[in-house]
Amino acid sequence: MNSEQNNTPTLFHQTNNGRIFLGDSLELLRSIPDNSVDLIMTSPPFGLVRKKEYGNVDANKYLDWFRPFADAFKRILKENGSFVIDIGGSWIPGQPTRSLYHFKLLIMLCEEFGFHLAQEFYWWNPSKLPTPAEWVTVRRIRVKDAVNCVWWLSLSPWPRSSNKRVLQPYSDSMKELLKNGYKAKKRPSGHDISDKFSKNNRASIPPNLIALANTESNSYYLRYCRENNIKPHPARYPATLPEFFIRMLTDPGDFVVDPFAGSCVTGEVCEKLKRNWLCSEISEEYLKGSLARFMNKEQIYSDESLNYDYEVNGENNSNYYKIPRPGILWNGADETKLAQDGGRKRDNKSKFL
Ligand SMILES: C[S@@+](CC[C@H](N)C(=O)[O-])C[C@H]1O[C@@H](n2cnc3c(N)ncnc32)[C@H](O)[C@@H]1O
Repeated sequence: MNSEQNNTPTLFHQTNNGRIFLGDSLELLRSIPDNSVDLIMTSPPFGLVRKKEYGNVDANKYLDWFRPFADAFKRILKENGSFVIDIGGSWIPGQPTRSLYHFKLLIMLCEEFGFHLAQEFYWWNPSKLPTPAEWVTVRRIRVKDAVNCVWWLSLSPWPRSSNKRVLQPYSDSMKELLKNGYKAKKRPSGHDISDKFSKNNRASIPPNLIALANTESNSYYLRYCRENNIKPHPARYPATLPEFFIRMLTDPGDFVVDPFAGSCVTGEVCEKLKRNWLCSEISEEYLKGSLARFMNKEQIYSDESLNYDYEVNGENNSNYYKIPRPGILWNGADETKLAQDGGRKRDNKSKFL
């Protein structure tokens, strides 16, 4: 965020269903009527400790920075609407421990502003790199941080929602179970499982863990940025993430707002799903790139960013992520004595595996 630039919002682009504004969204939000928005779907600048190019805010100042936005969100949201916020965690500078800023944000939104936590989601990105390298690959004292929190909030405990919109195919083991029958029995937890679980509903209800690689590499958006010498947005979310919530929480014709729009992935998904939408972004460079998303529908909608066949570990495993059970390599694992100082002294001999 550059304080010297003029951040008064101006209309940057318009489609049949949506509008993009360039400028400070805090200003723009003032022009949105009370109780008029069905969904705020957004990924704000994360409170990363190292200042990043797209205007991250220092973790400690994050709550103060967010308060006026929270006020505006509360005012514009309909009583039965939802506010979904994708937010990554961050490390405390110089030490291998985590900031609490995203949990504090959640608590602030609920306790200070009266939002309800409809449900917390976790977006697992299997393609995340093992960072920060110092703690993860050099000293080997932390594991890969590959999960973003997605807080689904609402003003009433009863926001409009249907999980029928986001059903998933059955896993192979569930299909097997349905074929061979399920014997009603008690689970180790003591929970009684009746035979109603053997009914074939043709699809399963998804969990609150969204497994989604962020591996866009040759999309129309990226090609357009390359060809036009535009810097692609460095922190884009994959279209499937907002699409999950837009499908589950809104109907066609509803009004969706993304106040931290970046490259306008939210707008692109809304356009496809025929929701009315408004995106606002403070960086003109990012919006120049976003135009790619609204140029040629044919090209955009056959694009890999809206394709659900993701590759995992080099093989296409029909859209299922398989996570190894933690114990698989425990026999024969490195049993070298743990460093008494918790890794404070850097062991330069330490190597990968
Ligand atoms: C994490 S990025 C969003 C990325 C987006 N979801 C995408 O997939 O392209 C957050 C964005 O918020 C923008 N931003 C930060 N402060 C803003 C403000 N006051 N008004 C409008 N945009 C702002 C940043 O420039 C950045 O592009």
